[in-house]
Amino acid sequence: MAADAERLAERLFEAVLGFGDVYMVYVGDRLGLYRALADHGAATAPELAKATGTDPRYVREWLEQQAVTGILHVDGEQAPDERRYSISDGHAEVLLERDSLNFMAPFLRMMVGMTRPLPSVLEAFRNGGGVAYADFDADFVEGQGDANRVQFVNLLGQSWLPALPDVDERLRADPPARVADVACGVGWSTISIARAYPKVRVEGFDLDEESIRLARENLETQGLGDRVGFEVRDAAELAGEGYDLITVFEAVHDLSRPVEVLRALREALGDGGRVLIADQRAAESFAAPGDELERMLYVWSVMHCLPVGMAEQPSAGTGAAMRPDTLRAYAEEAGFSEVEVLPIDNDFWRFYLLAP
Ligand SMILES: C[S@@+](CC[C@H](N)C(=O)[O-])C[C@H]1O[C@@H](n2cnc3c(N)ncnc32)[C@H](O)[C@@H]1O
Repeated sequence: MAADAERLAERLFEAVLGFGDVYMVYVGDRLGLYRALADHGAATAPELAKATGTDPRYVREWLEQQAVTGILHVDGEQAPDERRYSISDGHAEVLLERDSLNFMAPFLRMMVGMTRPLPSVLEAFRNGGGVAYADFDADFVEGQGDANRVQFVNLLGQSWLPALPDVDERLRADPPARVADVACGVGWSTISIARAYPKVRVEGFDLDEESIRLARENLETQGLGDRVGFEVRDAAELAGEGYDLITVFEAVHDLSRPVEVLRALREALGDGGRVLIADQRAAESFAAPGDELERMLYVWSVMHCLPVGMAEQPSAGTGAAMRPDTLRAYAEEAGFSEVEVLPIDNDFWRFYLLAP
């Protein structure tokens, strides 16, 4: 076998094993198997099945797989149903701890969710057009929400906004500032802004009805009174509202009409208002081979971001690997006078501050 054939075959075999881990972690995540092990301690397959209302034979197979792949620990050489399985604190953090920056379960949920509309993606390749966001089911939408939530609750109000002195000052001042969180998804960014700044009123808008339903549900337990509201709304229809700050997290590259939307956001700003955009930290320009982030961005782009952006035609067809020059060109065409790339350190996102 040619050396490059052997290398690719080995690499793809590793990828198949990685894919296997994704599926198996999904099973443990969605059925509450990891949660039960973390809460009640080591268990046999019949004990874990009983605690989670699942079938012991399936649970035994899953536990054996998890031990073989090194995610769970197994004690003893006993008969299959007598072996005790446990989860370490470190692995429990990665799989279960919603507030930890190491929480990976939602990314895996999204990977599974991305496979469901695959026939529609192939159809879009053949005939153009796209796939509606609503065709990506709960695994994707909830996974997306939880994957970004951890950054919003830990960093948005604690370090990202305080890194912008003028914005931070306005958000603390009177009269209370008005903030629009555009394409807010399930609302964690909206909620986190309101939590960090006790005076501001934040409105979250998204085109996707299911996301707004989940955002309202997420808000219920937050005790933020009437300072936060969520509405199904096309960002392109936001105009003349006098906002002090408009935020757009991980969504510009998904928009079919980014220039039209950015123009609407510019017109919706009040005096001194700014637009804060966080989007993928794609490299400055295309280069191959790319780093891990570029490799990931293109997978997400082909499977989700580009089809979603192409669902409405005509479309800018941006894709997830949106370069800073592309964002600058959109902003200039939308009439913004200044686009500043902010010195906020983040592995995944680049931050832009737009002045009208
Ligand atoms: C990748 S998700 C990001 C969601 C959220 N900001 C987050 O960080 O979790 C992109 C979001 O953009 C929304 N979206 C796309 N086009 C939109 C438009 N024209 N107006 C409002 N929301 C839009 C989608 O419904 C989706 O919720």
